[in-house]
Amino acid sequence: MGKKLTDKVTWVGKVDWTLTKFHGDEYSIDKGSSYNSYLIRDKKTALIDTVWQPYDKEYVKNLKSEIDLSKIDYIVANHMEIDHSGAMVELMREMPAGTPIYCTANGVKSLKGHYHQDWNYIPVKTGDTLDLGENKLVFVEAPMLHWPDTMFTYLTGENILFSNDGFGQHYASELLYNDTVDQAELYHEALKYYANILTPFSPQVTKKINEILGFNLPVDMICPSHGIIWRDDPTQIVKQYLKWADNYQENQITIIYDSMWESTRRMAQYIIQGIQLVDPGVTVKLLNSAKEDKNDIITEVFKSKAILLGSSTINNGYLYSIGGIMEMIRGLKFKGKKAAAFGSYGWSGEAVRQMNELLEHAGFELMNEGHRAMWIPDAAAEQACVNFGKLFAESLS
Ligand code: FEO
Repeated sequence: MGKKLTDKVTWVGKVDWTLTKFHGDEYSIDKGSSYNSYLIRDKKTALIDTVWQPYDKEYVKNLKSEIDLSKIDYIVANHMEIDHSGAMVELMREMPAGTPIYCTANGVKSLKGHYHQDWNYIPVKTGDTLDLGENKLVFVEAPMLHWPDTMFTYLTGENILFSNDGFGQHYASELLYNDTVDQAELYHEALKYYANILTPFSPQVTKKINEILGFNLPVDMICPSHGIIWRDDPTQIVKQYLKWADNYQENQITIIYDSMWESTRRMAQYIIQGIQLVDPGVTVKLLNSAKEDKNDIITEVFKSKAILLGSSTINNGYLYSIGGIMEMIRGLKFKGKKAAAFGSYGWSGEAVRQMNELLEHAGFELMNEGHRAMWIPDAAAEQACVNFGKLFAESLS
């Protein structure tokens, strides 16, 4: 069933309460998600985006109960990733032949690459408009937010920005709007989404937001393609994005570690004591990379001014979970964060040196050569960890 947002605009998407993973296994989903699609009825009728492929038949069936498909004049595809374009084949099978699909030039390439169809593609650029009768759609290319094909679409008159993934959250709600849901949950999911998906593109986020603000367009609603719609003070999320895109950090240190026989974990706890002796107000989070959710770890790294990476040495290297989480962190291109490594060992002890390389490769400023403890830490080794924590905390100020 569609849900009316305004006289002209109806939400025709899919709320997915059962989703647990996204992007394969790369992104954990805690509170469901949605694939938002919007139908605009003016003198002409336009459909913005579709839904993920497993729901294609359900989507088309519901859409047909909302409107005779032959009455849809235009399709707008803001982004071709499968979660938004996945129902296109099923939809186009039932649409009149030749129904135009408006998207960027890169969008044409993505659609052809995905579905191998000779549809009626109409490539658009920033500033191009599509007259619906009373109101117009204005297209704004947004390359690398987060794919080369991405664009935003603005509806004049209703003053709605259809931002696709931008400003979205993996957050299911049947109530649709930001003022109808738990604010802490909403902001946690919006932050997790930004940290895990948009961080590498922060320079483009800042540039694109400033470009759009420069148009001085009134914005009554921001309608992303995932999660809730921002209607109460909609630009609050735009202001938040400008903060998140600006090498965001809080007064937090995150310790990511893995441990074979608890010695590295014990080291971490004495390091925390040292940190707190220097800065009692700093938030410290201790997260086991083999046990905690990887995307929650990333979100904590995003919030941190510095991280510590700890691992036992095994087979002349570090534990496997450290390699996995650091590969994710490397890809996200965090900027302006500091780091150091630590770990226990029995004989060869290469993990710390190798983790230093991982940290530098991931763009962190290495504050020292790291700290090692041989075998199970005794009282002197515990004190050495406290001292290491103090030195690390001092080096951050
Ligand atoms: Fe929600 Fe980039 O797709």
